This record gives sequence, C-alpha cells and structure tokens, in this order.
Amino acid sequence: MVSEISFGAWAIGGAWGVVSERDALAALHQAVDAGVNFIDTADVYGDGRSERLIAHLKKERKQEIVVATKAGRRLPRQTIEGYARENLASWINDSLRNLATDTLDLLQLHCPPTELYSRPEVFAILDDFVRAGKIRYYGVSVEKVEEALRAIEHPNVQTVQIIFNCFRQRPADLFFARARQRQVGVLARVPLASGMLTGKLRPDSTFAADDHRNFNRHGEAFDVGETFSGVDYRLGLEAVEEIRRLLPVGTSMSQFALRWILMFDAVSCAIPGGKRPEQVAENCRASDLPPLTPETMAEVERIYKQKISPQVHHRW
Ligand SMILES: NC(=O)c1ccc[n+]([C@@H]2O[C@H](COP(=O)([O-])OP(=O)(O)OC[C@H]3O[C@@H](n4cnc5c(N)ncnc54)[C@H](OP(=O)(O)O)[C@@H]3O)[C@@H](O)[C@H]2O)c1
Repeated sequence: MVSEISFGAWAIGGAWGVVSERDALAALHQAVDAGVNFIDTADVYGDGRSERLIAHLKKERKQEIVVATKAGRRLPRQTIEGYARENLASWINDSLRNLATDTLDLLQLHCPPTELYSRPEVFAILDDFVRAGKIRYYGVSVEKVEEALRAIEHPNVQTVQIIFNCFRQRPADLFFARARQRQVGVLARVPLASGMLTGKLRPDSTFAADDHRNFNRHGEAFDVGETFSGVDYRLGLEAVEEIRRLLPVGTSMSQFALRWILMFDAVSCAIPGGKRPEQVAENCRASDLPPLTPETMAEVERIYKQKISPQVHHRW
C-alpha cells in the first residue's frame, strides 16, 4: 500500500538546475511528514546522489519508506545485450550501496529498448535476482503505451511507470484496464508535465543550462517526451490557461493536475518531483481535494483532444 501522492526524486538528484542538499533533504522530510511512504529514484539521478539522499532520509526517519529505483541508463547506448546479467548485477550492487540496504524494494528497467519486451530471458534474470534476495520486486518504466502492454505479459512484472497527466491521456484508453485486470501497479510519472501544469511558467521563463527543460527541449539528450511531456512549450501554456479556468476555488493548478490523475482507479500513485518543502506540501494536499466533477473531467478531455492530442497521442 503506497501513498497515492508519492515522491519523484529525479530533480533532487540532478538535471534540473542546482538543488542544495539542504533543500533536497527538507523536501524529502516534508514528503514523509505529509504521509508519503513511497519514493521513486534511479541510479543515474545525479550519478547516485538521489539514492544517497534517500538513504540519508531513511536513517533519520522511523517510518517505513518503500523505494523504487531503476537500472539500465548507465549503458552508453541502449541495446538489449546491455541488459546482461553481469551489468544488471553491477547496477543493482551500486544501488544497494547507495541506498544502504540489502534488498531493493522495487527495481524498474529504465526505459529499455522496445524489443526487450519480447526477450523473456531478461525477465528470467530478474527472477533470479528476486530469488537471490537482491531485489524484492521488479517492474518497468516505459516510454510508450505499446511497451506497457507488452511488459505486463511477463508474469512477474509488478509495476509499470508511465507518463500520465492532463497532457498525456492515452494510457487511460486501454492500458489501465489491462493493468487492473493483471493487478499491476501503475506509477504516474511526470504528473506536472515538468512543472508546466503548475501554471507558473510563462512564455519568457528561463531555465538553467543544466536543467533538461533547457538542454532537452528538443530531445537532444533523451526522449523528448520526458521534457514538458513532449508538448510544444507555447501550445502547452495555452492549454494551461484553458485548464486554469476549471479550478475550483482554493485549489492550485498543481493540486488540480494531481487530483485529475487520482480520478483514475488504475493509478497506484502519482510521483511528482519537488525541490523544496513548500512544493511537496502543496502537492500532497491534492489528496484532500474532493473528486473532480464529470463536467470538469470532460472539459480536460476536450482541451486535450483539441490542443494537445494531435502532437502526442500517436507518439507515446
Ligand atoms: N524515464 C523515467 O523513468 C522517468 C522520467 C522522468 C521522470 N521520472 C520520475 O517521475 C518523477 C516526476 O517527474 P518529473 O520530476 O520529471 O516531473 P514533474 O513531477 O511533472 O515536475 C516536477 C517539477 O515541477 C516543479 N514543481 C513541483 N511541484 C511544484 C509546485 N507545487 N509548485 C511549483 N512548481 C512545482 C519542480 O521544478 P521547478 O521548481 O524547477 O519548476 C519539480 O521539480 C521524477 O522525479 C522521477 O522520479 C522517471
């Protein structure tokens, strides 16, 4: 059982501009204070920094905190051969060390190549790591709905992490029903469209050179879908203004965007990133909001279909 609003620990690791250790730890502590018991990270976030910060947090808190990490992005080039037993063993050992634990709660393959999903031998290796006690469960983080559907054909895939937010609605079409049938956990990542759905960004907003919203705006470093969900910046801002008109009194854009995700039963949790405690506190309060009305849901769908879907629906 994980908190429906959980915590995404990419930004406190790296690739989002400077985040001080103090702010990162304060954000993590705030998450636990607000009832978060699940944190998503990866070995490559700040080259282990994110995992080490979580280990630090766990030392200071007595609550049970479940940690999902990822492996695969240390490869210089994504190939199926790269997901060999020796490589996986070495990445797992590094994560165990960084997280200061004997067993990883949940290991996710980190957006591997699509063809990997037709290679049962890779999943058999993961089964061996479970038997050896190195990992408790495994899952996948995927780019595309098609990959998600194929991943859950493997019987021991426990979770799928996928981009799902007001700007990425396709997972709700078919994948969610299948995931529920198979009792697979769904982690909704990039729930705020990299901050765009917080409503704070402007056409002239700027980002630090080491923030992916600057250096990956066109997919220069990794899949462009991870940055603003792959939505054109100006078009996204226009859609945000339309969504803003739907906000119930006293609800912030971030809370609305997260509450929208929680309207879907198949979602186990949303994992918003947060760099400061105030952001985390605001995001966690989304759980306290009443359900959105059917009219509001229909409006978000209309805005998506009119403005966003032509750019993204067929791609991911
Ligand atoms: N391939 C993968 O597996 C993969 C890829 C991407 C993400 N993820 C996971 O998903 C998690 C979430 O996605 P994400 O971090 O990319 O994007 P996100 O959650 O959509 O956006 C997070 C960013 O929005 C801003 N923000 C958050 N709450 C806010 C608030 N209340 N008010 C104002 N600004 C706020 C912060 O950045 P600023 O303050 O700088 O604007 C924060 O870093 C990641 O942390 C990671 O764990 C996984």
